[in-house]
Amino acid sequence: MLSLCVVYMVVISAGAVQSFTFSAGKGDGSQHSDYPVNETNIDNLPKFWTRKMRSFFNLLDDDLDGVLTQHEFLDTIPNRMDQYFSRNEASVFKAIWHSTWDFFFVTREKNDNLTVEDVIKMQSRYLTVPHFPEHGEAWFQEVFKLVLSHGNQLIDLSDYTAFLQSFGVDPETAPKSFNIFDIDDDGYLDEKEYVKNGLGYFADAKQSSGRYLWGSFPPKKVA
Ligand SMILES: *[C@@H]1O[C@H](CO)[C@@H](O)[C@H](O)[C@H]1NC(C)=O
Ligand SMILES: *[C@@H]1O[C@H](CO)[C@@H](O)[C@H](O)[C@H]1NC(C)=O
Repeated sequence: MLSLCVVYMVVISAGAVQSFTFSAGKGDGSQHSDYPVNETNIDNLPKFWTRKMRSFFNLLDDDLDGVLTQHEFLDTIPNRMDQYFSRNEASVFKAIWHSTWDFFFVTREKNDNLTVEDVIKMQSRYLTVPHFPEHGEAWFQEVFKLVLSHGNQLIDLSDYTAFLQSFGVDPETAPKSFNIFDIDDDGYLDEKEYVKNGLGYFADAKQSSGRYLWGSFPPKKVA
């Protein structure tokens, strides 16, 4: 039985300690983060970074209507995960994903029907709020350990392809990312290689290898 109760203690600048676990969220905004959302005009954010967030939004917006509903977010990817991962891994991911919605996407007030601008604003905390990226890093570590690596230290190309397919990405684009991330060229991604690039997609304002997190950039959705 995998532990669902890894608690992350993160020291916020004020000196307060916020703790949360990725598996505790209900997906209703009840585990929302208290990190401030910057009200800056999104046109002032770095252009390439904003393109990455738009691309990510397009992966989540399953029906491509420009609005991400709570159900669309909570159901689409975990349902696909069922096809590619064991029951246990898929259910762990589902719990993480509920907390992801709460912590990274919504506030108590705004917790349904997000536009791409809403999502960009929420994600911009990676660039503007001290310590926010540490939560993203913890997210990728947890997904690596509890889901993608099947409890091993490494993921291979088929694990990575399954991860991309769960996000609706064309599996043919997986080898390209995988090879770019596999710096030591041993045919596996270790936790460091995966987490660095995963976090890089969200936290690097400039172009970095992390832009290939979802296969090619921009990501190619399965038709
Ligand atoms: C979100 O949109 C759906 C219709 O697409 C609507 O039924 C629902 O009430 C909306 N939720 C909120 C919180 O506005
Ligand atoms: C909001 O974002 C702008 C530009 O990205 C930055 O200069 C400013 O410091 C941020 N404010 C807060 C409160 O994070």
